[in-house]
Amino acid sequence: MSNQTDTRHFWMPFTANRQFKSRPRMLVAASGMYYYTDDERQILDGTAGLWCTNAGHCHPKITEAIQRQAGMLDYAPTFQMGHPRAFEAASALTSIAPAALNRVFFCNDGSEAVDSALKIALAYHRVRGDGLRHRLIGRERGYHGVGFGGIAVGGIAGNRKHFGPALPAVDHLRHPLDIARNAFTRGLPSQGAELADELEQRLLALHDPATVAAVIVEPIQGSTGVILPPQDYLQKLRTICDKYGILLIFDEVITGFGRLGSAFGADWFGVVPDMIVCAKGLTNAAVPMGAVLVRQDIHDTFMDAAADNAIEFYHGYTYSGHPLAAAAAIATMDVYRSEGLFENAAALSPYFEDAAHSLRGLPHVKDIRNLGLVCGIELEGIPGQPGARAFDVFLQCFWEKDLLIRTTGDIIALSPPLVINKAQIDALFGKLAEVLRAH
Ligand SMILES: Cc1ncc(COP(=O)(O)O)c(C=O)c1O
Repeated sequence: MSNQTDTRHFWMPFTANRQFKSRPRMLVAASGMYYYTDDERQILDGTAGLWCTNAGHCHPKITEAIQRQAGMLDYAPTFQMGHPRAFEAASALTSIAPAALNRVFFCNDGSEAVDSALKIALAYHRVRGDGLRHRLIGRERGYHGVGFGGIAVGGIAGNRKHFGPALPAVDHLRHPLDIARNAFTRGLPSQGAELADELEQRLLALHDPATVAAVIVEPIQGSTGVILPPQDYLQKLRTICDKYGILLIFDEVITGFGRLGSAFGADWFGVVPDMIVCAKGLTNAAVPMGAVLVRQDIHDTFMDAAADNAIEFYHGYTYSGHPLAAAAAIATMDVYRSEGLFENAAALSPYFEDAAHSLRGLPHVKDIRNLGLVCGIELEGIPGQPGARAFDVFLQCFWEKDLLIRTTGDIIALSPPLVINKAQIDALFGKLAEVLRAH
């Protein structure tokens, strides 16, 4: 079928377009742990799509909720109007979120959620009369989507360098990946918490803490190759932010919805941020949706500051709280709870960890990092060809082993749906091991 598909017109995102179109990798159906291709192969999904179909593909309850909603209310504005599903989705989301974060701003994906959170942070300080706080701090190798706010606080050079100065007044913490000290650590690395002190000792000392609005970090840096925070690192960031009145935003687009075996990374780490950015697993990716979970008093500050009948926050999207996305989110939260998927992820994490670390010693494997149902396998690159080795592994897994993995640079990232079982974990790492062994 791929031979019949005209591939010329779709400019594919984050893709080597010419390479793809020379031999398209076409997925035509999905169910549970598997994709199906146009050449009728069943592909084991080691990446939950793009870290997003946590409840498995085409979950019947989610599909049915979307279908029902599409036939009842296709669209309704949420600007000065409302529809029940949007409010119910917000309630469903807050029911699994840290208790303090009980107000929800909806948008359509992770990038919009990041930019929304940054705007809430900046506006919050303004609204309470502290407009000097205009500076944002992100982290090297952080990925916060592709909006101008997100690439500004993000720290992936390739995503930034072509687009000019995105936002003024942004600085970055160093990333905590330290293979020299922490290689092959299971779970959180023991070395590196002092890197969090840099927030205070380097960045706040340089810029003046009174100018800083927010710090945004991913609890685990996912897209850039599964970089785990050292033990106590996130706690330290929380303490420093509290000391100086700076908002702490967790970008949980990947770590949210059970990836670590808890609803959010915030729960796993025992650190409550002031806002959580989420997307992906929010609707099991069946309809695009993103959200910002906000501390109630931040929300209330906006409500209290505005005149009667005035709009309190000048921001929103035509599709904020879209009926189909809202229906998908409600059904997804229900599935997570009724099927105990976060508990399943937690229970399988030790098995997944053992399987991941069984790859140690295979050719070119220079580090393995893991937590919950996520792991990163870093390979020695081919000199002068960054990313080529891992991409080759990706292609071989897909064409020869019927396995979908994801790579970034020379790092393989695995993040299967939370419905995975032990036999499928064995298959996932077994197939990958065969490919690595032959390299
Ligand atoms: C941590 C993080 N933030 C933001 C995003 C952007 O999300 P989206 O692609 O839905 O805009 C991603 C996507 O992978 C992500 O991993």
